[in-house]
Amino acid sequence: MLKISEIMKDSLVDKEVETRGWIYRWRESGKIIFIVLRDSTDIIQVIISADNVPPEDFKAAKESGIESSVIIKGIVRKDSRAPNGYEILAKNFKIVGPSINFPISKDKSDEFLLDNRHLWLRSREMTATLKIRSTVFESLHEFFKNESYYEVQAPMFVSSAVEGGSTLFEVPYFGKKAYLTQSSQFYLETFIFTLENVYTIAPSFRAEKSRTRRHLTEFWHCEAEAAWLSNEDMMAFEEKMIYYVIQSVLENNRKELLFLKRDVEKLESIKLPFKRMEYADVIKLGQNVGLDIDYGTDLGADEEHEITKNFDGPTFIVHFPKEIKAFYHRPDPQNPALVLNHDLLAPEGYGEIIGGGERIYDLNELLRRIEEEHLNAEEYYWYIDLRKYGSVPHSGFGLGIDRFIWWIAGLEHIKYAVPYPRNVRRLIP
Ligand code: 4AD
Ligand code: MG
Repeated sequence: MLKISEIMKDSLVDKEVETRGWIYRWRESGKIIFIVLRDSTDIIQVIISADNVPPEDFKAAKESGIESSVIIKGIVRKDSRAPNGYEILAKNFKIVGPSINFPISKDKSDEFLLDNRHLWLRSREMTATLKIRSTVFESLHEFFKNESYYEVQAPMFVSSAVEGGSTLFEVPYFGKKAYLTQSSQFYLETFIFTLENVYTIAPSFRAEKSRTRRHLTEFWHCEAEAAWLSNEDMMAFEEKMIYYVIQSVLENNRKELLFLKRDVEKLESIKLPFKRMEYADVIKLGQNVGLDIDYGTDLGADEEHEITKNFDGPTFIVHFPKEIKAFYHRPDPQNPALVLNHDLLAPEGYGEIIGGGERIYDLNELLRRIEEEHLNAEEYYWYIDLRKYGSVPHSGFGLGIDRFIWWIAGLEHIKYAVPYPRNVRRLIP
């Protein structure tokens, strides 16, 4: 039994092979049935002629519907008219699982395809995207391993906010209130006192009502935290990571990128180091391209889209005013109105994919910021404790993996980058 990709080789031409998969396309022309068969590896044309297969096999092929699962035996031939240049002249054709009236046909609406995501996953678009996703997750793990980071796991049920209360998902918890985690950052900070360099890849949840091209309510978050590292050190680490993953995708998924009509040159031309821009300069740049923003405006999806449309590579924005960033960011001792943080913006209009920076490690400074933001210090007792017992300078970041894939694959909307996207209107399938 061979996979389809293993069959399409000159050494197998005129040889008999057996393969299995699902019917992707079906057409009949006189006494011949043309099928395009797919499996996880590729597609291949299969020719079932009444002259070459037993009558019951021909009948089965004639009655087989799109997405039936089948086992085929036949002779490999080269034919430039076939989709990948090869085809199988069938000698046997057996149906394993019939499929009658597969609901997805051409020109179905986006909503229909989302309602039928469990079936649409079989499309070549989703196959390509899922393969790219797999490479991205795999190469992230690989990168952290190469850099000697430990993988850790944080809880998903939590009792306090990391990124502000307005996007917390509340969950009833045995008569108490729990939340779904917005970020594993605070837990990662607890691990650095044991392991120094840690990361986790886990879902994060945000009760995000805004309907943009880049917001999900559940997303995959790659977060890292490292003792002793500065904001600068962390940015150098991140750009190396982003570059590493992109090289892996270019190496392993060129076929998928081309299928998705990604302009691969845009990815190939990315160079290290990435550009750094001061927040204040980004605001000026935004004003110059006609955006209605002032110093102190937090950049949203639309603003970042306009700003990064003409960027030719990923760009770090540094030194945000502390008022528009979460309380844990360390104010710059040279200019305490600004924090030692960074956002990494993807080019081509995609915008923020990473948020990170240096954390406050001084106890009193943290208590002051908690008070300034009117937060309840008791809720954060364990986070505050870290500053009482052997505190160290440290930095970290969070990469939105779905956004990263959205950009790498050059997709129009983040929902196309995720197998089962969740947003304010979608909870099925
Ligand atoms: O910028 P954010 O909110 O930063 C944090 O959560 C930090 N605590 C991370 C850290 O330092 N450990 O989120 C980080 C990234 C964003 O840059 C974005 O890529 C992604 O997470 N993200 C989302 N992705 C999809 N849908 C949403 N609603 C997202 N919210 C954030
Ligand atoms: Mg952010």
